[in-house]
Amino acid sequence: MQGEQELKKYNPAVMKRLVSYLKPYRVQAAFASAALLVLIVSELLVPVLIQHSIDNHILSETVSVSGLKKDSLQLLILLISALFASFVQVYLMSWAAQGIMKTLRVQLLAHTAGQSLSYLGSKPVGSLVTRITNDVETISEFFASVIMTLIQNFLVMFGVIAVLFYLDVKLGTVTVLTLPPVIIITLVFRKRARKAYRRVREKVSAVNAFLSERISGMKVVQVFAREAAVQKMFDHQNGNLLQANIGEMYVFAVFRPLISLFSTVTLAVVLYFGAGFHEGGGLTLGVLIAFLDLIKKFFQPLQQLSEQFTIMQSAMAGGERVFELLDTEDRIPDCGSRPDTESGWCPEADDDGPAGSELRFEDVHFSYKEDEPVLKGITFTAGRGETIAIVGYTGSGKTTIANLAARFWDVDSGRVLLGGRDVRQIPLSGLRRRVQAVAQDVFLFSGTIRDNITLGRDFSDEQLLAAAETSRLKPVLDKLEAGLDYVLTEGGSNLSGGQRQLIAFTRVIAHNPSVLILDEATASIDSETEKLIQAGLENLLSNRTAIVIAHRLSTVRDADRIIVRKRDPRRADEAGRVLL
Ligand SMILES: Nc1ncnc2c1ncn2[C@@H]1O[C@H](COP(=O)(O)OP(=O)(O)OP(=O)(O)O)[C@@H](O)[C@H]1O
Ligand SMILES: [Mg+2]
Repeated sequence: MQGEQELKKYNPAVMKRLVSYLKPYRVQAAFASAALLVLIVSELLVPVLIQHSIDNHILSETVSVSGLKKDSLQLLILLISALFASFVQVYLMSWAAQGIMKTLRVQLLAHTAGQSLSYLGSKPVGSLVTRITNDVETISEFFASVIMTLIQNFLVMFGVIAVLFYLDVKLGTVTVLTLPPVIIITLVFRKRARKAYRRVREKVSAVNAFLSERISGMKVVQVFAREAAVQKMFDHQNGNLLQANIGEMYVFAVFRPLISLFSTVTLAVVLYFGAGFHEGGGLTLGVLIAFLDLIKKFFQPLQQLSEQFTIMQSAMAGGERVFELLDTEDRIPDCGSRPDTESGWCPEADDDGPAGSELRFEDVHFSYKEDEPVLKGITFTAGRGETIAIVGYTGSGKTTIANLAARFWDVDSGRVLLGGRDVRQIPLSGLRRRVQAVAQDVFLFSGTIRDNITLGRDFSDEQLLAAAETSRLKPVLDKLEAGLDYVLTEGGSNLSGGQRQLIAFTRVIAHNPSVLILDEATASIDSETEKLIQAGLENLLSNRTAIVIAHRLSTVRDADRIIVRKRDPRRADEAGRVLL
């Protein structure tokens, strides 16, 4: 689908917006443009100078050595200035392109990080990563090497024709008359090349998607000994890619020699007519030689033009996708950061107010998808300092309750109140600081254990070790030589499942929220360690509101109240039954 859109149309709005990213680099762009002009003028002046030398110094009555010396010097200056201008242009535009790439990536991540979980959950991670990496890279390539060369190629081609006519109108006309077939071939080729390029892109992304999914799921493949089947599928995918690549090469393999052929034909025609005009005395030899050089200069850019168009169009397709992502707003409305929204501005809630950290669900209805209710009118109160346990069947909505308390989703109807205030009336950053969960599926980043606990906040070692003591992570740290600085691999895969859970525990203890949610937090920890944690937790839970979610009743014996979730909330009349 993405491929269908790709390279289809020139979209002026997208181009305008892309070019607007050049604004902070307008000085660089201005100097690069000036350098480009110098480059083009020097390139076009070289044949004119050669013509001048031949006609005025070599073929004149007497060969003028001093004139030749002067022209050679001028030629040298032209070549050096072309070299220098080319360097300045490439350097400045690459600088701008790298800067734009960084700006876009930072913008994209900042934007994505602010979106709601329901939005992020609906987008495949791969496609978001592709936006931030590949698409941005194509855009940057467009700025670095295409935008200027494309302009350069056009100007050179027009410049060549202008110089041809300046040197000799008759021979200029003959040359231009040979061009229509070349132009037609180029247009046809552009269409073919675009199609071939699109096919290759589609197949490349299919191979990439296949690889990333299979490699991350390789364990499942190995457990069921399905390596051969995966190999076969990959073989098939690669076969498709091979075909697409050969198709693309075929198009180029036909086009390049065709253009060479036509450039040779044009040269022959110009030579033929030029010789005739020379015989007739209307054309000097210098002009004829200059023509031959200029014609080569005309055909060179023509060969590159199609490729550059393709890159430009794919940059536009990339731009379209990047801007679409940047323009999508699907945030949880935050009254704290946007004083001008409908709900008005909300001040930070007072943690120590009379109701403090009491958490209350009031007739809450919620569904992830329309017509598939997960919570149907649930009401309970976790008083300040109380521990409420939720037990129940898989899929009955326990994690959902935790998600609503931290406002990762908003209720469909009813209210969630923290300290007597609707959570929608509390600034999000404040709410998330006060309500924190040890999630069911622990997520660890690659980096040190310390980084994974602090998540960028400042904590002293004493604070971290005290938290580790409560969570019983301490004995694990003691066994590791690097302790807190032990480096975790991606996803924390060099630790056991239970040890990962202990880190998540320590994380939330260190961050010290006033409402603590433990979602199956001890599920993969052995019962002995769990008992030890329970002892540590008693102290921790005694002065804060807590929701403890568990499958096993044994884990929640000490709770003040236990909520039992029924098997299927969609069929249940009441979503939860509160036991005392
Ligand atoms: N992001 C989501 N999008 C759509 N449906 C979801 C989403 N998350 C959960 N659900 C559905 O909502 C229901 C409740 O899920 P929830 O995660 O709250 O169950 P749970 O009680 O925590 O189960 P478990 O004991 O297995 O952790 C399930 O039927 C699930 O399929
Ligand atoms: Mg759950």
